[in-house]
Amino acid sequence: MKSYSHPGERFVEWGGLRSLSSILPKLHVNCPLIVTGKHAMKENGVLETLLEELSEKKMKPSVYNKIQPNPTDEDIQELISFMDNSSTDSIIGLGGGSALDCSKAAALLFNNRASPIQSHLRGEGEITHSALPCVAVPTTSGTGSEVTPYVSFTEKTSNQKFTFDHPFLIPCIALLDPELTVTMPPYVTACTGFDALGHAMEAYWSINHSPFSDTHALRAARLIMLNLAGAVKEPTDYQCRLNMSIASCEAGLAIARTRTTAAHAASYPITTQFSVPHGHAVALTLAEFFEFNENSMDESRSNELADALGGSTVSDASNRVRILMDECVLQRRLQKLDIPSDAIETLVSSGFRPDRVKNNPRKVTEQDLKEIFLKIY
Ligand SMILES: [Fe+2]
Repeated sequence: MKSYSHPGERFVEWGGLRSLSSILPKLHVNCPLIVTGKHAMKENGVLETLLEELSEKKMKPSVYNKIQPNPTDEDIQELISFMDNSSTDSIIGLGGGSALDCSKAAALLFNNRASPIQSHLRGEGEITHSALPCVAVPTTSGTGSEVTPYVSFTEKTSNQKFTFDHPFLIPCIALLDPELTVTMPPYVTACTGFDALGHAMEAYWSINHSPFSDTHALRAARLIMLNLAGAVKEPTDYQCRLNMSIASCEAGLAIARTRTTAAHAASYPITTQFSVPHGHAVALTLAEFFEFNENSMDESRSNELADALGGSTVSDASNRVRILMDECVLQRRLQKLDIPSDAIETLVSSGFRPDRVKNNPRKVTEQDLKEIFLKIY
């Protein structure tokens, strides 16, 4: 039987970060640790304002600003070691997916020490305690990490991406403030927006989909097709930014139950071996996988997804996804991303993990993936 429940509270408002100091007292915390990246939130003054507002409410906030893109297990360990030497009783993750994922992992593993951090991240340790209160404030619109039970990290020793998955990883509060996203450069807006589109499309065709995840997925897909290009071209467009924040969160709610499928699995080696940002790497194969999966989906369902993407057929909708990439100035060809043709074998043989595509409606073999990579070369 299909069921759906999702813990946590969600807020969305332009300028909503200014309300955080009023929301936080209900969590009964005093010493929140703001986990963020090195520069952006400091340079735009957001961090300073937040610190002032929390201090005015008699809290003792502190800051950890060493988060880098594509965090490793060692980065998460370092954050937890920092917390060990502070009086942190809660975490505010402020940033893109990396800051949010590190915050979620640290909030949970700080309270669970039965096994080494690395074992827990590999899903091998037993989680017996709930997480410290964790508030997620995304400054991009893409990962949906503010509402998912997943943490993506790269294992330093193997240079492979893994996902830590536990229901206690879902932040207790997700605060969407689209105003924080206006400083994203166009390329980052495009990449993160396509990450969210990947979540929406893959959640919809995942074998784990339900009527409840479908609702989130279709709404997210529609919003992204209508608003992403506008947000890329006009970064301060209020309506496009607001709709992209909602779409990203809706897509996160969709994959929170279904997990991702083939386009994400194919993206990981492209990111780890050629440093193509996650959302761009996902975008590369989305249209191809929609066409690949078409005959393994009920016709009514493939038509419904095509319609949400603004197309009359699967092939028309796939073309609209390709056109959106062009409008967002995202390269669609592996060759243009400086990936040599002889790397395709390696991407497939050493990077692709078929266990990551178990949720795809059609089985994906190494040969299938090679053919898809050749199509987009
Ligand atoms: Fe993703």
